[in-house]
Amino acid sequence: MLFVCLGNICRSPLAEAAFRAECTRHGLELDIDSAGTGDWHVGHPPDRRAQAVALHHGVDMAHYRARQVQAADFDRFTHVLAMDADNLIQLQRLKPSGCEAHLGLLLDLVPGHEGASVADPYYGPVGGFQRTWVEVTMAAAALRERIIRSITA
Ligand code: 4NP
Repeated sequence: MLFVCLGNICRSPLAEAAFRAECTRHGLELDIDSAGTGDWHVGHPPDRRAQAVALHHGVDMAHYRARQVQAADFDRFTHVLAMDADNLIQLQRLKPSGCEAHLGLLLDLVPGHEGASVADPYYGPVGGFQRTWVEVTMAAAALRERIIRSITA
């Protein structure tokens, strides 16, 4: 499961953290990572505000490091989930032909939020990061439910 935003320092690390926590709680072991379509922050830890929100919810992201999406990701991951429509378009451009990976919007997983973007909190007040956490947490729970349903079906 690969979560993708623009910088890989705000939204997608939070989605990764929320989904890791969800999988740990439910005993699921999956390949989980996050990446950015842009390269400005490669090698940087997540934004301090994102780290603070995750830590408040029990997840330490201090060791996460931003990286850029690469062609091999479309082979490594069965699902590549974008935080917004712009990043989904970038992923569709980057996906090598013949790769079977499913590309989609993260919030398409959440009933009532289909087609919506996880808003970019980077330039806004710290409250935006709390909202991001709520959104990625809802999606993480929906994703975990779907996975468990597909395993047990
Ligand atoms: P993210 O947020 O895509 O959620 O990691 C951003 C972080 C940095 C920039 C843009 C968005 N930036 O332009 O540097």
